[in-house]
Amino acid sequence: MRLSNVLSTTAAVLHLIGKAQAKAVFAHYMVGTVDKDHAQQDIDNAISVGLDGFALNIGDPTESYVGATLEYLYDYASGTGFKLFVSMDVSESGAACNAGRSCCNGPNDYSSIFSQFLSNEASYLGPNGLPMISTYSSGGVEPDAWHSWKVSLDFQMYFVPMFDDTDGYYDSTSGWWSTWGNLVDGVFSWEAAWPTVADGSSTDVGSLSPDMPVINSASASQKSYMIALSTLQYKDAVRHARNRDCELLLTDTKQYGTNLYRPGGLNLPIRMNNILGIASQLDFVEIITWNDGPESHYIGNVWSESSDSSVMYSSPQAAFPHAAWQPLVTSFIEAYKAGGTMAPPSGATAVGSMWYKTILQDASCSGATPPSGWSTGTDSLTWAIVLPSGSSGMKACLTSNGSVISTVSVNPGLNFGSPTGVQAGAQMLQLLDSAGNVVMTATGGSWSECGRWQRKLQQLN
Ligand SMILES: *[C@@H]1O[C@H](CO)[C@@H](O)[C@H](O)[C@H]1NC(C)=O
Repeated sequence: MRLSNVLSTTAAVLHLIGKAQAKAVFAHYMVGTVDKDHAQQDIDNAISVGLDGFALNIGDPTESYVGATLEYLYDYASGTGFKLFVSMDVSESGAACNAGRSCCNGPNDYSSIFSQFLSNEASYLGPNGLPMISTYSSGGVEPDAWHSWKVSLDFQMYFVPMFDDTDGYYDSTSGWWSTWGNLVDGVFSWEAAWPTVADGSSTDVGSLSPDMPVINSASASQKSYMIALSTLQYKDAVRHARNRDCELLLTDTKQYGTNLYRPGGLNLPIRMNNILGIASQLDFVEIITWNDGPESHYIGNVWSESSDSSVMYSSPQAAFPHAAWQPLVTSFIEAYKAGGTMAPPSGATAVGSMWYKTILQDASCSGATPPSGWSTGTDSLTWAIVLPSGSSGMKACLTSNGSVISTVSVNPGLNFGSPTGVQAGAQMLQLLDSAGNVVMTATGGSWSECGRWQRKLQQLN
């Protein structure tokens, strides 16, 4: 057999068992104004984290920055092995349409983007060998309109939309599958990533119970499942929609712009554990997000030039960098792909970090409107530490303003906790060896009672 025959036979076999082959991990990437070198740095950083690609969230596709940002990303990704696919944010494009923009045709507004980039070498190909396309929401677009849009692209896609806004989705009703099932190659659930606003039940933190009915039906229908993994969600972003003459049309606190707090400091590590427990039933993981500043769940870079001037927040990167979550994500990705447990990089003692909000539950801070759901917050130091197999006798010690609030044993794999008793001041996580010596520390900075709901992160060094 000639080599080319071997390769094509292998490709055919891979195609047949394609569902079992897909084990990619992506991050949701908000497409905005970005400098070329920053777009490139995003890809370099994402490769270092171990991500396979970005799901490129595009709201209003007629925005002037879209073309340049996509060119920077696709040009740089080509040849690196890092992949990209478009996530049509038809919710946002519909909102932009309502605010006077000319993107009023749902997925059809993205046709020039697809004609330019769908066959790009950097496009992520699904198990059917065709470029992946995703969405953020159905945008209220009806099934027959989605079908017509697929016809317009001659069905040349691997379609994994996020349609969790449609009737019956999370119940995974037979009605849902008969209405939508034929349109999709896989499904992706967004809201399942966090407990709902004001849900204070600790059992819902990081739970897969919203995902499971959909995972089971997707599997029974030979469709793939993309599971969402997120750190947390706190957003304070009030949108001020303007028309093309920059006149203020509305101040909208209901859509993207809102001020809310979803509970679950431990959402990230608990969901990591749960996802690893059912990894064999999953195809794709999408980390939400790489760079969504206003929603606070970014793990990557939030560049100042990307800050949406119509949203009332300033670039959070400087005060609240989130890179300290990245080593946990890297360890998760390796375990997910290998079907094993989380471990630090070979030779490392541990990876880990600590995160906390810098405002106390009983703080009375003038001028600040507490976010919806704030009462489910706790004054905690949340931490996660990953230890290699073979480590023994180690402990995690949490200190708040000079007082030890927790000391617990930590074992090989992923450990986490969220002890309460935080006081304003300096916070510290220490990893102790079996003799009680400090081997690694996460600390830095001090704060007073009226800080922010945004989480402050410190990495174990
Ligand atoms: C933090 O510790 C210092 C020193 O012990 C103490 O004076 C201060 O009251 C503590 N702060 C709080 C908020 O308890």
